[in-house]
Amino acid sequence: MTCMGLLVRVGDWYRLTDKMVVTGCLGAVVVLPLPAGTAQRPSFIEYEKVGYVARGEVALFIVDQINRVFGQRLPEGSFYRIPPTLVHWFDNAGPSDATLMEGLVIGPDWRSWDDFVPSVPLAADWENMSDFKRVHWEWFVDLGQLGLSVSDAPRWLERPPVGLVKTPREVNPVDVPTNQKVPLKTRVACGDGATVMVAERVGTYHSAPHVHSAEQFNLVVGGSNWAYAMGPQGRYFADEAKVGDVFRFPPYSVHWAWCRDGGGSHMVEFHFPGLHGDPDVAKGVVPLRAEDPALEPRTDRSRNLLVDRASVPVAAVEAGTL
Ligand SMILES: [Fe+2]
Repeated sequence: MTCMGLLVRVGDWYRLTDKMVVTGCLGAVVVLPLPAGTAQRPSFIEYEKVGYVARGEVALFIVDQINRVFGQRLPEGSFYRIPPTLVHWFDNAGPSDATLMEGLVIGPDWRSWDDFVPSVPLAADWENMSDFKRVHWEWFVDLGQLGLSVSDAPRWLERPPVGLVKTPREVNPVDVPTNQKVPLKTRVACGDGATVMVAERVGTYHSAPHVHSAEQFNLVVGGSNWAYAMGPQGRYFADEAKVGDVFRFPPYSVHWAWCRDGGGSHMVEFHFPGLHGDPDVAKGVVPLRAEDPALEPRTDRSRNLLVDRASVPVAAVEAGTL
């Protein structure tokens, strides 16, 4: 893996064996392999997540604020959102490997201690690294302590988290005007603090230089394009992004892209905050918001969250022997 400022070459997404995290100054992006026959441990975190099933089929389970479990199968190409603090996990019981791509909305640092997931910051040489976010570890949860048993999974799958998942059929491509001859077709879904877009650029697509308050991460899943970003005092970034690369445009940097070789590109893109404030994008955006209020914890007030008792050395702490 080689990191060159605003771009990191990951290589073949589908050969990753562990999750990979890239960070910016507002959000982070995670590429999450989930091999056939594996399931995540139930956990929660304070960040809002928006995601895309880039490969394979998985089942999502999510626990609401009154400990009801919702479940749904997500075929390849599905979009999803996990509201902050909700216990959740993905299960890949099928015969094929799966890969998820997620954006994490990193809000104010509620936790001030130094214990972070290893990550790759994508920083231009004109940016201040002290502005960059890091990603805290999640908390693991024992379902038994919540009175739940995974043997109920078939029943949970009968109660989908309506609104938090959109299957490929539910997110139609929209044409985003580009002032160019070559169109941009994109499917886009949004959370509160981010959008996730899957964009198809055909031929020699060349976008017009633009800025936005959002920080933008692009994951190249097909084709290639050149990416350009301007910094202060004539400094700039220019590189060819190919399959297996992630690149980032800092907030308010003038940037554009060019499919110079004429072969088009296929990107999964995350914007923090979301681009759904753009009238052209807003026309086609699919909101990822739960119908059931118990699946939407309020972020302006707090609640008790039970962590896995086995992960806490209670006896040793109480005996003073840790
Ligand atoms: Fe942009």
